[in-house]
Amino acid sequence: MTTAGPEGAADEWEESIVKALQPTERRDELVVPAERAEPDPRPDEAVVEVEAFSVNRGEIFKLEAGTAWLPGKDVAGRVVRAAADGSGPRAGARVVGHPPAAGWAERVAVRTDALAELPGSVPAETAAALPLAGLTALRLLRAAGAVAGLRLLLTGASGGVGHYFTELATAAGADVTAVSRRGERLGELGARVVPDVASADGPFDLVLESTGGANLPAALAKLAPRGTLIWFGQASRTPVTLDFFSFFDGPESGTIRHFHYADSDIPDGTDLATLVRLVASGRLHPEIGRVADWADTASVLADLRDRRIRGNAVLTLTSAAHTLPDAADRSSQNAADRATSDPADRATSDPADRATSAPADRATSDAADRAASDAGTARSPE
Ligand SMILES: NC(=O)c1ccc[n+]([C@@H]2O[C@H](COP(=O)([O-])OP(=O)(O)OC[C@H]3O[C@@H](n4cnc5c(N)ncnc54)[C@H](OP(=O)(O)O)[C@@H]3O)[C@@H](O)[C@H]2O)c1
Repeated sequence: MTTAGPEGAADEWEESIVKALQPTERRDELVVPAERAEPDPRPDEAVVEVEAFSVNRGEIFKLEAGTAWLPGKDVAGRVVRAAADGSGPRAGARVVGHPPAAGWAERVAVRTDALAELPGSVPAETAAALPLAGLTALRLLRAAGAVAGLRLLLTGASGGVGHYFTELATAAGADVTAVSRRGERLGELGARVVPDVASADGPFDLVLESTGGANLPAALAKLAPRGTLIWFGQASRTPVTLDFFSFFDGPESGTIRHFHYADSDIPDGTDLATLVRLVASGRLHPEIGRVADWADTASVLADLRDRRIRGNAVLTLTSAAHTLPDAADRSSQNAADRATSDPADRATSDPADRATSAPADRATSDAADRAASDAGTARSPE
């Protein structure tokens, strides 16, 4: 990509390009293949060649909102250029990373404090499912505090966050009730599974709520007096209405705590290393409900939005060519893939820019915007 010219010769900076997925603002096809400039890392950033990435509900909300933001926060692959300041992994190291944007691409620049090295036993496909959902679950558990022996209610449990949280919290001794229509795996991980909030037997010492609408007041009604409800999302995109007087019927003196995973004193890279260690030692099992080639990203996003994927969805880049079909090829290939891939077959996987975004794009990634995106709150249009 860079060729240093001999003294006196014109600078030979050969501007290279990467293949990437670009937002369209079209709901039927949220991203399309495109090309963009090679990442231009800051001194504290390494360039990662992406082998797999995962997609999140909050990213879908952000794409639908049409913000000038290049998607991609969860990546796994190999460092192709170490950070210039000497921090972080060496070139050639296998890593998982959590950049703020632009990870749905062949290469992305990632701050070294948002990277963790991968042992050979953890495939990129598995590691890619860790960052956003895993960090959220780990930090939710920290926010919950000492949960041994406590009764917990978790809504919206069918996704990546729910599976990670359930495995971590039951291992810590909590009695977890998970609300999910697709809860087989959550049951195996130790949760009591109920199809809706109304079916959950309270009272609960702690409620973790991420669906909003009527579910939050329904879950709050099952909270014990002086209990805590941690509010970490609004998957239904329906705002919540609360009645002061309803607290007297149960959760009297209860606390409602807003939660955003990015509000952490521990760097992402450190917590990612913890998640990697738990996976490598067989104590955390990413639930990956869909693995597909990144050419299928738009249809996978639609399936995630429409609640057809359990756990995380992971997209892979083939190292041979990182081939993304052009627009003409794409529609026929997607149709063929949909015809041949049965959801049951795909429900698998038991374990085992800044540089690339323009400064104007980056400016849109302020904290409030990120919060709305991660939690799927009202900033996204319906
Ligand atoms: N606060 C933070 O820092 C933060 C960070 C990451 C994620 N989040 C939020 O955490 C939640 C879980 O994340 P995830 O990645 O695991 O998400 P996910 O895979 O998309 O799972 C979403 C969950 O919400 C439920 N759901 C979806 N639409 C719903 C609706 N209209 N009404 C009721 N339930 C609905 C689904 O239940 P079904 O089984 O019934 O489909 C599923 O259990 C999301 O709301 C996400 O935005 C928050």
